[in-house]
Amino acid sequence: MKSPEVVVMSNQPDRIIIFDTTLRDGEQSPGASLTVEEKLTIARALARLGVDIIEAGFPYASPGDFKAVQKIAQTVGTENGPTICGLARATKNDIKAAGEALKPAFSSRIHTFIATSDIHLKHKLKKTRQEVLAIVPEMVSYAKTFTDDVEFSPEDAGRSDPEFMYQVLETAIAAGATTVNIPDTVGYTTPSEFGALIKGIKDNVPNIDQAIISVHGHDDLGLAVANFLEAVKNGARQLECTINGIGERAGNAALEELVMALHVRRQYFNPFLGRSVDSTTPLTKINTQEIYKTSRLVSNLTGMMVQPNKAIVGANAFAHESGIHQDGVLKNKLTYEIMDAESIGLTNNQIVLGKLSGRNAFRTRLNELGFELSDTDLNNAFLRFKEVADKKKEITDWDLEAIVNDEIQQAPELFRLELVQVSCGDHASPTATVTLRNPEGKELTDAAIGTGPVDAVYKAINRVVNVPNELIEFSVKSVTAGIDAMGEVTIRLRHQGHIYSGYAANTDIITASARAYISALNRLYGAIQEQSQVNNLSEPVLTSQN
Ligand code: KIV
Ligand code: ZN
Repeated sequence: MKSPEVVVMSNQPDRIIIFDTTLRDGEQSPGASLTVEEKLTIARALARLGVDIIEAGFPYASPGDFKAVQKIAQTVGTENGPTICGLARATKNDIKAAGEALKPAFSSRIHTFIATSDIHLKHKLKKTRQEVLAIVPEMVSYAKTFTDDVEFSPEDAGRSDPEFMYQVLETAIAAGATTVNIPDTVGYTTPSEFGALIKGIKDNVPNIDQAIISVHGHDDLGLAVANFLEAVKNGARQLECTINGIGERAGNAALEELVMALHVRRQYFNPFLGRSVDSTTPLTKINTQEIYKTSRLVSNLTGMMVQPNKAIVGANAFAHESGIHQDGVLKNKLTYEIMDAESIGLTNNQIVLGKLSGRNAFRTRLNELGFELSDTDLNNAFLRFKEVADKKKEITDWDLEAIVNDEIQQAPELFRLELVQVSCGDHASPTATVTLRNPEGKELTDAAIGTGPVDAVYKAINRVVNVPNELIEFSVKSVTAGIDAMGEVTIRLRHQGHIYSGYAANTDIITASARAYISALNRLYGAIQEQSQVNNLSEPVLTSQN
């Protein structure tokens, strides 16, 4: 194969840096909000996956975000762990909050940004180009007082005037930015345009060899991954991505797709990184066998389900349905498979535990699945496991995930379900009675009639909790096959424009439905409480980040 023409810049790494923004941009997906503990669980999984940098949040946005970044910096940002990054607009308050939150990390990065497109300058920032050009060096220099590792992004780069953006990037690098990140904020560019944008930056920003070029992009036209791969061919060495591609609107470029494209098509990409075509050195530091587990974990904790036909991690990604394909694969896998399911850590959903399994076996398997539970969570999950094992002989990895997710996703438990009872049938009006314990510890019982048993339960719960909301999604699915399978319920509800999700799993789907609803209501109720505390302290809270 003839090597493509490549220009390898002197200070550039000869591999691709993976910058994961699941906990920042990913968490901006409607309804994906996570508790501090859930963020910590995901951050640990990302460290095991081998990402280079974790963008842990936007510390100035809320006290909860600040705390999460600080906790991740403390616990996951260890000497051998990933760099922990915090997002900040190009303002002193934002940068200071990021610097403070990141203090406990061994290696920290501040990612500061300001828009450069005329649309954003005119309508959002109400600033002139000259004003932006003055702000950038001042804020990059200020960020440098907290850490040497500063990333700068010209937001909406994809729609910015390239000549102006070159100037801004030059100024940012001169002020000390070590990474310049090029965001296609609205997912507007095509692969060849995005590749040309990166090439233009390399050719026209005089000091570009002093910084690493990174890319960030949204999937509004389904082009984010293709755009990034074209950017790699043109000199980008850092990719900003999220697990399962979650994120603002249509999401971000999916980490698993980028990593596996670079892995499976290594020979194609090698020369663009100055390597010989046949080099077997991996192009990223990602441990691909952790991909599937991490994907399931993020999906379960965020309530963002992965579509079955999703590349790499969808339920059908390695399934062969047609007879011709099955026949071919049985004769030789290479006929219809370009990668092994094992390479992403996908194993058969084997029966792993039964009702005689002990706590140690339970904990060990959970650790292998990526869960590290506190003693209290482990005890509660073990009790649930025993309950389920009594009803269901064979417990698989998927059952275990469902049990643990059900257990850890109920926090913060403000309202607690004490009892749910329904009566229904083809000649009866579906009627539900529920008893809940409220945050003050008082038991409250109510009943309602609905169009079906779940509707009746939700109406009864609403009568007790009394927070107006609109149920916008209800999904119930079986965790495994079989009549004794557990049902997983995921719901989303809307309150004043914000979306809250809830998840629960149980062998009784009415109980699972009630618990999932209360879980979402607890998140909503918690957000209302946090907001009123913040208002009392008159601290700034942002609702929109970019
Ligand atoms: O999409 C975007 O432009 C962003 C920036 C903050 C990098 O998320
Ligand atoms: Zn973004």
